[in-house]
Amino acid sequence: MIILGIDTSCDDTSVAVLEDRKILSNIVSSQIKFHSKYGGIVPEIASRKHIERIWDVTDKALNEAKVNLSDVDLIAVCHGPGLIGSLLVGLCFAKSISFVSGKKLIGVNHLEGHIQAVFLEEEYPEFPFLSLIVSGGHTSIYRVDDFGKYVELGRTRDDAAGEAYDKIAKLLGLGYPGGPFIDKLAKEGNSDKYPLPRPFLHGSLDFSFSGLKTATKALLRNLNVDQNINDELIKDISASFQASVVEVLIEKIKWAAKRENIKRIVITGGVAANSELRLRAQELKNSGFQIYLPSKNLCTDNAAMIAIAGYHKFKKGETSDLFLNAHAYLPL
Ligand code: KG4
Ligand code: ZN
Repeated sequence: MIILGIDTSCDDTSVAVLEDRKILSNIVSSQIKFHSKYGGIVPEIASRKHIERIWDVTDKALNEAKVNLSDVDLIAVCHGPGLIGSLLVGLCFAKSISFVSGKKLIGVNHLEGHIQAVFLEEEYPEFPFLSLIVSGGHTSIYRVDDFGKYVELGRTRDDAAGEAYDKIAKLLGLGYPGGPFIDKLAKEGNSDKYPLPRPFLHGSLDFSFSGLKTATKALLRNLNVDQNINDELIKDISASFQASVVEVLIEKIKWAAKRENIKRIVITGGVAANSELRLRAQELKNSGFQIYLPSKNLCTDNAAMIAIAGYHKFKKGETSDLFLNAHAYLPL
């Protein structure tokens, strides 16, 4: 079965082609250069860029996969959560080609895509497993009992982990998105130099990163960073901030595993590309955990994850019609 996947939920225009679980192409056209000077995504620019690029990206995905539109059996499109204008571009595009070509259509939740990215890998877990989704918009832990059966065990009460990375990077004068910059600089920094709080929220599987952000801001103020900024300081603060985020993420997933008595753990979403988090997660294997980390390009936003989730929904007998709508807020 050939599946065309489409994701335009945020600032990446992505189209992928799968043959069942096999990726034939997975094109991601980044808009970062248009947004970085603003230090974050400008929704209006994102929607306009999606409109400009969606056909080209689709052509590229079909060409690389060596398939024609007529070979496609199913169109899987992300319809939320995300930026509403951006989502509408991908959705209207998917509905139009479905209407014109008569191809089946299926709407996919972006978070379901992140969770199912692991099924694009050769090794994937048996059900039930735990999935920690850490991205720019979300930080949640789900128990995944089956395809389509997700139980949320905890979520962030304020900022997502990626959002916190991006905000601290902005304060340090680094580029956007900040996660990869902090990741790189932290490798050369001393994480013990500026001990920052660990927001564990004992007894809960929820997260909260806004206090850590405020503590980091206060630290920068105390260090009079505007006057004293230098490479070493930036590296040490990056390392200290990252140590706090990673420790909280790792501890929380361990608590969830203990509470649910499940040792199969998937970590996914953009922040799962973080090298320290990946390292610490791999270390959990020594304590008997089975850890699944999708490759970095499948952790960050991409359309192959939407296509695989759409494929599994279709196999369960689900399809969508042309009344499918986009939703900025769409719980799993
Ligand atoms: O999943 P994603 O591509 O888009 C959303 O659905 O949000 O995640 C983007 C987020 C951004 O906040 C970015 O800073 C963060 O993932 N990110 C990282 C790394 N790579 C991307 N955070 C920490 N370390 C990284 N290496
Ligand atoms: Zn995402």
